[in-house]
Amino acid sequence: MMFPTQVSIVEVGPRDGLQNEKQALSAAQKIELIRLLSQTGLSRIEAGSFVSPKWVPQMANSDSVFKALSSEADIRYSALTPNLKGLEAAIEAGAKEVAVFGAASESFSQKNINCSISESLKRFEAVFDLASKNSIKVRGYVSCVMGCPYEGKILPNAVTQVSKELIGMGCYEVSLGDTIGVGTPKATRLLLDDVLREISVSKVAAHFHDTYGQALVNLYTALEYGVSTIDSAVAGLGGCPYAKGASGNVATEDVVYMLNGMEIMTGIDMDKLLAASSYISNVLGRPPVSKAANALLLK
Ligand code: HMG
Ligand code: MG
Repeated sequence: MMFPTQVSIVEVGPRDGLQNEKQALSAAQKIELIRLLSQTGLSRIEAGSFVSPKWVPQMANSDSVFKALSSEADIRYSALTPNLKGLEAAIEAGAKEVAVFGAASESFSQKNINCSISESLKRFEAVFDLASKNSIKVRGYVSCVMGCPYEGKILPNAVTQVSKELIGMGCYEVSLGDTIGVGTPKATRLLLDDVLREISVSKVAAHFHDTYGQALVNLYTALEYGVSTIDSAVAGLGGCPYAKGASGNVATEDVVYMLNGMEIMTGIDMDKLLAASSYISNVLGRPPVSKAANALLLK
């Protein structure tokens, strides 16, 4: 097993982070956060989602956000789109890349997107069709890869099966979501032993929430397997409205600090990242949920 020499970070704070904040941010505040993030060297930013505003009101202004971003070059801004309606709205707002999101747990699928796993895959077919007509890249998420808030244990092979379906349908990459952050290094190994038997490591991303403080050590484990795409959120923002108690994604600052120390390239400037972290923390009125950010900001 060899560490990658370079890691691509997908910043999900503006979507995964802000979707779970009680305080809904204005489009202008989100645009400013994304502008600051865009200056850090990040090349991929998940900027919003086109879902039902009744389900996730915090994302209702994603169209204004995307309309303001579409002229920016060199950065891939993406949006969650659960169905055709979502994709149509994303295209209208100028999104060039989207993500569909499924789950390895039936109960979570019902609670999160109001349908079974197989129904969700059926819905995604229309998304893939329209996306390919518009040359839009589609990423796939699988939630609950190491545990479900409703069902508890999830078998690694259930994750592999859904991941395979998503790749087969046209996802260029599948992001494995430890939605409620219950995984440990052993669970991460069991998961990747199974998934990587079927899917090339270059198509796998790690999306770990830090609820139990395990995200960094699980990411280290994933790096040992050669995983080289990591999702994280500035200031450790995040959660999921349909997973009670789910806390933020692992903080981008903590991931970048660890990777810098391991001499794995990310292309991200820590000082500029801290500027984005401070901005959003001021807006939300609390310090970043990142040990590295708090330590570095005190210097
Ligand atoms: P539904 O109620 O089954 O859908 O919801 P429907 O097709 O029956 O439509 C019902 C209403 O929603 C209609 O409006 C539609 O127009 C509207 P009404 O006639 O009642 O006024 N609607 C929409 N509006 C805007 N955009 C759309 C859209 N689709 C339908 N795209 C649906 C199904 C999927 C829409 C709903 O369940 C939903 O929006 N869920 C949101 C779930 C969500 O955003 N969860 C958080 C993101 S996932 C996550 O955080 C996990 C992840 O981070 C990975 C991890 O950590 O594991 C990715
Ligand atoms: Mg998530």
